[in-house]
Amino acid sequence: MTLQDFDIIVASEKHADYATQICDEMASSAKARGTGIAQRSPEYVANKMLEGKAIIALHKDGTWAGFVYIETWSHGDFVANSGLIVNPEFRKVGLAKAIKNAVFELSRTKYPNAKIFGLTTGLAVMKINSELGYEPVTYSELTQDEDFWKGCRSCVNYDILTSKERKNCMCTAMLWDPVDKQKQIDEKMKKITHKATLLERIENAIKNSVKTITF
Ligand SMILES: CC(C)(COP(=O)(O)OP(=O)(O)OC[C@H]1O[C@@H](n2cnc3c(N)ncnc32)[C@H](O)[C@@H]1OP(=O)(O)O)[C@@H](O)C(=O)NCCC(=O)NCCS
Repeated sequence: MTLQDFDIIVASEKHADYATQICDEMASSAKARGTGIAQRSPEYVANKMLEGKAIIALHKDGTWAGFVYIETWSHGDFVANSGLIVNPEFRKVGLAKAIKNAVFELSRTKYPNAKIFGLTTGLAVMKINSELGYEPVTYSELTQDEDFWKGCRSCVNYDILTSKERKNCMCTAMLWDPVDKQKQIDEKMKKITHKATLLERIENAIKNSVKTITF
């Protein structure tokens, strides 16, 4: 089995029938891991599909293979790519990575100025996020939108979160900040330009010394 066996696409109304199956798998996977999740109803998931704010992976035979959706917080200043789930039949093929790449691109297209963040206990997700350029941050750098934090109420670790006054919990917070990324690109460009100028000066100095020797 390879990634070529799957279609990874923006979900739409024609995928709404998969919503219950997706939610059931989200719940049973969380139970198996003994970790918490922000529980979502099939209606909520189907609505994300209708809004074009979700990525779905389907096996060529039509079997549901993976899913993730976009949520916006703080009036669109923050975006989270949430609810990542891969059908256990199709794990370790690279689907999570491909789905996360697709939802990242979709988030950047729809919300180019938003900070993209995630909260996770999963090593696989931390790895994928790091590859996308996310950086670990404290919870204070995430959205302070109460509605986002309400999602943690259905998590088994909610008591820990409240006892720590929402400063930290079992999840690692990761953030991709477009302003920081632009600064990093500008810095790199500056260094490249500086090196190019330096090389140009060395080249000119060599040319001049060659001229001096010749004449
Ligand atoms: C976590 C999950 C999404 C990974 O899906 P997947 O399609 O098997 O992941 P991929 O094949 O794309 O693997 C991506 C990377 O993570 C690693 N990885 C995958 N599963 C892993 C695991 N359970 N533990 C540690 N690393 C893992 C892979 O080796 C790969 O690393 P590499 O690029 O260095 O080779 C899937 O196991 C799942 O749906 N789990 C239940 C729900 C869940 O945990 N969701 C995340 C909530 S934040």
